[in-house]
Amino acid sequence: RAEVVINGSSLPAVADRSNESLKHSIQPASSKWRHNQTLSLRIRKQILKFLDAEKDISVLKGTLKPGDIIHYIFDRDSTMNVSQNLYELLPRTSPLKNKHFQTCAIVGNSGVLLNSGCGQEIDTHSFVIRCNLAPVQEYARDVGLKTDLVTMNPSVIQRAFEDLVNATWREKLLQRLHGLNGSILWIPAFMARGGKERVEWVNALILKHHVNVRTAYPSLRLLHAVRGYWLTNKVHIKRPTTGLLMYTLATRFCNQIYLYGFWPFPLDQNQNPVKYHYYDSLKYGYTSQASPHTMPLEFKALKSLHEQGALKLTVGQCD
Ligand code: CTP
Repeated sequence: RAEVVINGSSLPAVADRSNESLKHSIQPASSKWRHNQTLSLRIRKQILKFLDAEKDISVLKGTLKPGDIIHYIFDRDSTMNVSQNLYELLPRTSPLKNKHFQTCAIVGNSGVLLNSGCGQEIDTHSFVIRCNLAPVQEYARDVGLKTDLVTMNPSVIQRAFEDLVNATWREKLLQRLHGLNGSILWIPAFMARGGKERVEWVNALILKHHVNVRTAYPSLRLLHAVRGYWLTNKVHIKRPTTGLLMYTLATRFCNQIYLYGFWPFPLDQNQNPVKYHYYDSLKYGYTSQASPHTMPLEFKALKSLHEQGALKLTVGQCD
């Protein structure tokens, strides 16, 4: 019998898999969901005890200089030197300074977005956050186009742009970056030593081609602070995913938060297969035991927040 792997546990193919996705079905339904302003404010306040998105979204120019040595967050024994290029791209002030938005969309990368028709709705939000340079043009009907902030884990350069081995791939990345048109490009540069060269390549490309993006490099304490907040709330994550990081940051500057493309399960609520990513062929086994993420656990926490009205999860079609 075929098996799927979700976060390390092998589940028999048919019967248990359906239970798995039914277990996660979302209530209340879209039309009945109401925002809970009191709870959202309480969450913002609690998170502020651990981190401040305005500051932690990026290291600023004034705090580092070229040649400074940084220990990687997950590889404490490995270090990097702040290069001239990185220094040049550090913002002078926080890209979120004094920012407040009525509604924000955070777009995760699950295949549940395909055929959702959510593009228009996503684009109506005042601030739209996307993850890992996910493509939009070809999927606009389902994912929208508006992008105010997009993240880029260094691993994306390997996975989606063939480590820029030749001019064709460099051009592809360049096109994607040009398409960002002044949005914030959020690069976790200090997490793991494996990303060192990739971050440098991207920085060099941005400077050489005068790409119009506002680069941001998350603070050294952000990841542990985010993990600390969730652990305190009994959500035992190993390493927060990009999506959870974005939600945690967004609580600071968004009144209402709408999540799309968060669905780490191989079947949707109607038992139809769901791709892991809406735009590539990465498989669910990718979130294996070796992976530091605990996506289904995160999802459970987000679902509970949806039920309480602190955020709105959309996992089906948009109205
Ligand atoms: N996500 C999800 N369900 C999926 C795929 C993604 O809920 N099937 C959410 C996760 O919160 C994830 C975000 O969408 O962080 C963006 O997806 P992806 O680019 O796969 O992010 P990460 O797994 O965090 O990135 P990486 O693999 O580079 O750590």
